[in-house]
Amino acid sequence: MDKLLIKGGVSLQGEIRIAGAKNSALPILASTLLTHETVQVCNLPHLFDITTMIELLGCMGVEPVIDEKLNVEVNSSTIKHFSAPYELVKTMRASILVLGPLLARYGEAEVALPGGCAIGSRPVNLHISALQEMGADIVVEDGYIKASVDGRLKGAHIFMDIVTVTGTENVMMAATLADGVTIIENAAREPEVVDLANCLVKMGAIISGQGSDTLTITGVQELFGCSYSVMPDRIETGTYLIAAAATRGHIKVKDTRPDILEAVLSKLEQAGADIKVGDNWIELNMHGKRPKSVSLRTAPYPAFPTDMQAQFTALNAVADGTGSITETVFENRFMHVHEMNRMGADIAVEGNTVIVKGVDTLKGAPVMATDLRASASLIIAGLVSENETIVDRIYHIDRGYECIEEKLQLLGATIRRVPS
Ligand code: UD1
Repeated sequence: MDKLLIKGGVSLQGEIRIAGAKNSALPILASTLLTHETVQVCNLPHLFDITTMIELLGCMGVEPVIDEKLNVEVNSSTIKHFSAPYELVKTMRASILVLGPLLARYGEAEVALPGGCAIGSRPVNLHISALQEMGADIVVEDGYIKASVDGRLKGAHIFMDIVTVTGTENVMMAATLADGVTIIENAAREPEVVDLANCLVKMGAIISGQGSDTLTITGVQELFGCSYSVMPDRIETGTYLIAAAATRGHIKVKDTRPDILEAVLSKLEQAGADIKVGDNWIELNMHGKRPKSVSLRTAPYPAFPTDMQAQFTALNAVADGTGSITETVFENRFMHVHEMNRMGADIAVEGNTVIVKGVDTLKGAPVMATDLRASASLIIAGLVSENETIVDRIYHIDRGYECIEEKLQLLGATIRRVPS
C-alpha cells in the first residue's frame, strides 16, 4: 500500500487548477443509464471513484469510451445486466446511484446494500422508501436491494425525513422517466444536485426547483444524448485553500467557483485570510500570519460542509486560540482527531463536538488515513508539522483528490509518494 511522505514547514505559494467535482461526476455517469443515446461527460476528474463507476457500468455490459482528453462517452444500449455487485459497492458506496436509473428505465435493479463505513452507519432507507412510494417493489435479501416495477414508476409526493444528497439524486433520476409529476420535499440543495439536474435537463428532463428544498420533476417518455461538462470540485478547492491558510501561505486556485463556497470562504476570512475572488478563481493570502481559531458547525448546503470539517480541524490545531467544531451530518467523523493528537495536537472530543486548542506547531509522526476527507486533513497536519510525517492507507485519498502530491508540489510542498 502506497504512503505519502511529507516534510512540513513550507508555506504554500503558487497557482493550481481545480478538477471536476467527484460528487457531481458520479451521479452524472449513473444518469447515462437513463437513455439509449450517447452521453458525453467532460471535465471528469482523474480519480479512483470515477474508475470504479466506469467499471460498474462496464460490468453491466455498457462500454464507456474514454478519449484522449479524458472525456467519457457512454452509450448504455448494450446493457445486459441490471446489477451492481458487492465487490464494487463495497469499494464505493455511491454505486447506489445506479438504483434509480436502472429501475426507471429497465424496471429492475439489484444493487448490493452498502454497509456502514468509517464515518457512520449511512443507511439507504430513504432511497428505498421513496422509490417504493413511486410504485417500486423492493426487498432486501442476501445482502442485495432487489427492486422491480411493473411498467413505469409513478410520480409521487415525497418528503425526505433527512436531507440526503445521493438519496435526492437517486429519486430525481428515477422521477425523470416516471409517469406523472414527482415532488421531492426537504431535497438536498447541494451544488452537485443542481449540476446533475442541469445535466438531466440537457438530456430532455423536465425539472424545476433545483437549488431549493423542493424539486418538481415531470416524467417524460424518454431522455436523449447530450454533452455535459462537470462543475468544479468545491471540496478540492476548499482543501487547498485551508492547506494554504494553515501554512501561512499565498495561493490562487483556478477553474473553480467561489459562489458555491461562501460558508468556507467566510470561515477562512475569520481565520485571518485575505481572500480575493473572480468568476472562476480564488486567491488566498495569509501575509505570513498564523491563522486564528474558528468555530463551526457542519450541516447540509448552504451551511458549512461536513466534507471540509476534518481539514478545518487541522487548521485549528495550529491556530491561535481555541475553536469548537460540531459535526451534525455523520455520527462518527472524528477519526482524524486521534491521529492529530499523536502529532502533538490538543483536541478533545465531546459527543459530536471537538474542542481544538491551537498549539504552536505539530510534530511529524506515522499516521493512518481512515477515510477520504480525514486523509486530506492528515496531509494538512503533515504540512504544518516539524520534520517528517508518513500518511499510510492513502488509497482513500486517491478516491477523491486528483494528483494531490503533484498539485501540492506545484505549491512548493515537500511531499512524495512512497510505494510499499
Ligand atoms: C454525500 C456525499 C458525501 C457527503 C455527504 C453529506 C456523494 C457521492 N457523497 O454522501 O461526500 O459527505 O453527501 O454532504 O455525493 N441518511 C439516512 N438514510 C438515507 C440516506 C442518508 O439516514 O437513506 C443519513 C446519513 O446516514 C447521514 C445523512 O443522512 O447521516 C446525510 O447523508 P447523505 O446526504 O445521504 O450522504 P451521501 O449521499 O451518502
